[in-house]
Amino acid sequence: MIPQAAPPRRIARFRPEIDAAVSAVLSGPDYILGAAVDAFETAFARYCGRGHGIGVASGTDALALTLRALGIGPGDEVILPALTFAGSAQAILQCGALPRFVEVDAASRCIDPAAVADAVTARTTAIMPVHLFGYPADMPALMAIAGRHGLAVVEDCAQSHGATLEGRRLGTFGHAAAYSFYPTKNLGCVGDGGAVVTDDAALAGRVRSLRAYGFSPGGRVSQTLGFNARLDEIHAAILLALLPHCDAGNAERRAIAARYRAGLAACPSIVLPPEAEGCVHHQFAIAHPDRDRLKEHLAGAGIGTAVHYAPGLHRHPAFAGGAAHPLPITERLSDTLLSLPIQPEVIGDVADEVAERIAQAVLTFAEAGPR
Ligand SMILES: Cc1ncc(COP(=O)(O)O)c(C=O)c1O
Repeated sequence: MIPQAAPPRRIARFRPEIDAAVSAVLSGPDYILGAAVDAFETAFARYCGRGHGIGVASGTDALALTLRALGIGPGDEVILPALTFAGSAQAILQCGALPRFVEVDAASRCIDPAAVADAVTARTTAIMPVHLFGYPADMPALMAIAGRHGLAVVEDCAQSHGATLEGRRLGTFGHAAAYSFYPTKNLGCVGDGGAVVTDDAALAGRVRSLRAYGFSPGGRVSQTLGFNARLDEIHAAILLALLPHCDAGNAERRAIAARYRAGLAACPSIVLPPEAEGCVHHQFAIAHPDRDRLKEHLAGAGIGTAVHYAPGLHRHPAFAGGAAHPLPITERLSDTLLSLPIQPEVIGDVADEVAERIAQAVLTFAEAGPR
């Protein structure tokens, strides 16, 4: 079986460095908010091209604490795409604000700036673009809308570690960016983890306080409502060991995407993901009208795939009534997208021809035509 993703294989690849990092933490002196978290926050902020980094317990916490630190709460609306992981919208609910779901662009599968402009109301306080599958949302257009309406922009970079748009790192366009280090991410740890990056020192300070009981710097007195949402030392140490390999992993993902493209280009019933120079291919999601049968066919051929995301978030009971307008493109993508394996440690060497075998299995199904 070729798994859709296999995080332990990445750990195995870098095992000696990870073992050394974990061992250093185990030998002390701190298991919580010590030298590894400090070092990772500095290294990750530099990698992201931002002045401040704050390690938190998950990507959802990174989003929710940032929104809270921006003062977003009850009565506020935050605009985001309906085609994303539930955590994006849960972060908004957690602050007491309302998620307002808008349409994505059919080609990029990222939030459509025109739909955002249409959905702004007097209650809108922020936009949350998601760089879905590692592909950049149209940040210049979104920042222009935000500027016109005085809105905050929090980039959901959970799937876009290291990605760029026109040579500029994603996560440097908005007021802050949130990252997840869930094990399958392009930079992932062996449990939950996340980070906020920003150039705004005051915002960074508020997130730092919110992640640890509302304490003031160095203190143990709660100044405000706060949470226990810290990145663990052990995860920070592992992330610090993996960070230098992130760009090379992204380059390997690009090479695998190119091999899929070459193998699938001639098939008219398959829609390929968009091409963008700075894309980091967190997923390689093709679209096919008979997606569920294609998934079954591939499983029968020993190939694991995943559906990202169905149903759209506007169809989750927790977010009912959140659609700002009809979402036919989101609906169609939810019904047709299928993510092929793209993790470098799953696909292996070019000589193994795994990507080619997967592409061939897709073609065999697609060329057989409708049942
Ligand atoms: C786009 C997106 N946003 C938010 C999250 C939430 O991150 P976490 O699972 O670390 O809370 C994820 C992933 O898990 C994600 O893919």
